[in-house]
Amino acid sequence: APGAHVPVLVIGTGYGGSVAALRLAQAGVDVHMVEMGMSWDTPGSDGKIFANTTNPDDRSFWLRTRTKQPLSNFLGFPIDRDISRYTGILDAEDFSGITVYQGRGIGGGSLVNGGMAVTPRRQHFGGVLPSVNADEMYDVYYPRANAGLGVTHVDQSWWETTDCYQYARVGRKHAQRSGFPFVFVPNVYDWDYMKQEAAGTVPRSALAGEVLYGNNYGKKSLLQTYLARAKATGRVTISPLHRVTSVAPVTGGGYTVAIDQLDTTGDTTATKTVTADKVFFAAGSVGTSKLLTKLKATGALPKLNSEVGKGWGDNGNVMCGRANHMWDATGKLQSAMPTAGIDNWDAGGAFAEVAPLPTGIETYASFYLSITKNPNRGQFSWNAATGRAELNWQTAWKQPSIDAAKTIFDRINSTEGTIYRTDLFGAYKIWGDHLTYHPLGGAVLNKATDNYGRLHGHPGLYVMDGSLIPGNTSVNPFVTITALAERNIERIVATDL
Ligand code: FDA
Repeated sequence: APGAHVPVLVIGTGYGGSVAALRLAQAGVDVHMVEMGMSWDTPGSDGKIFANTTNPDDRSFWLRTRTKQPLSNFLGFPIDRDISRYTGILDAEDFSGITVYQGRGIGGGSLVNGGMAVTPRRQHFGGVLPSVNADEMYDVYYPRANAGLGVTHVDQSWWETTDCYQYARVGRKHAQRSGFPFVFVPNVYDWDYMKQEAAGTVPRSALAGEVLYGNNYGKKSLLQTYLARAKATGRVTISPLHRVTSVAPVTGGGYTVAIDQLDTTGDTTATKTVTADKVFFAAGSVGTSKLLTKLKATGALPKLNSEVGKGWGDNGNVMCGRANHMWDATGKLQSAMPTAGIDNWDAGGAFAEVAPLPTGIETYASFYLSITKNPNRGQFSWNAATGRAELNWQTAWKQPSIDAAKTIFDRINSTEGTIYRTDLFGAYKIWGDHLTYHPLGGAVLNKATDNYGRLHGHPGLYVMDGSLIPGNTSVNPFVTITALAERNIERIVATDL
């Protein structure tokens, strides 16, 4: 209710926010979560909550009048289409030089992501979070995060024979024939459900190509894991379609939080203020960075330090496809949940997911999302004239990522006698270098915050999400975001309540 007081307010319901809410509630604290996206609990006119990846509609995009699909073209033809402006599930947020894809709704990125739940190799951890004790992370917090998220491996004997992973087996064959380590990666998908999808005994989700705009069945998003447990404590409430616009200190302690209530066209229908003793920023790397940059520049939180908005990276994301020979068909049935990768991190700075291209037809294409060692870092700054936080990224900064990905795919193409696909990101364009799925940084741990996420300058303000991680995790990020949140909230519960 407007004017209400809450002990703890959490901004955002993704990984960092959900971990914080659960652990605070278990410690006996009442928590209110504020989420700008929808609650995604009501089916549309087709009887499904979420739209299919091959058939995006209004539900698919956050406040756009035209889709902006990550793979913008097929056979060189643009495939985007007009839609109605709606508070849809996937935000393709445009900054200079990069489009940052993010989930919108209760559950954040867990609603739209590929479920790949990867713990970085331990010898790389010092490069990911240099100020964090690796022993504690690998002994306690990574196992806790993996358990909390419901991470499991695919049954490999099933994987070896099922039609829906033919594309991944072709990916393995090509990786191994070029001498690259091929690794299975865990996922949060319910594999028993997927087996039943393959057997035709349940409605299809991953096997119907569902991923980017939500999974109707099978995938364990945060709604089935951390948020379900948080709600079961009876201490956590969530307001969807509410967007935090400001946080400012109250004389005598605590913070005033200003919130816009949105309708499903994105218009503000009410403005509210709530006071909170403690506020946790968990709006994602971009959401938290934008808010903190604005609040520092406009004087709402004047004591934030100069590290706010800095150290932002794209996890080195770059995409590409390869055109296979006719004898290397990748299959018209492709599970939308990736299970495997090519690990050339040590030799070439690239870890490539063997990704699906679930078009429903045989494409003879292999498709990859590479995570690469890209040293470039962007910075958010406040533009007072436009009233927006801007990011200074440049598309040319992806060149180290392309070079790293080429250490894998140039060699595979040479071994196989194949070429890159040039039709997926435009006409005659090889590299998907205009986007990221993995924004990280902007309120870096031990820089903008102390070593546990407490923001410098304003006691009672915390950062809990991907903005703590300085730009790269060497693998897909959500397990690391979750594990770091588990570590930080344990300390905060022990010492700050
Ligand atoms: P996250 O972005 O999850 O949550 C932030 C929440 O805050 C959002 O719900 C947002 O709407 C809300 N919010 C923002 N501003 C707000 C405001 N002002 N007021 C109120 N609410 C606000 N990772 C991985 O490990 N494996 C994978 O397979 C994939 N695949 C993948 C595919 C796609 C298409 C995407 C877009 C992303 C992935 N990822 C991924 C990345 C992963 O989903 C991502 O790293 C995490 O969701 C980030 O977690 P956070 O807790 O940082 O924020």
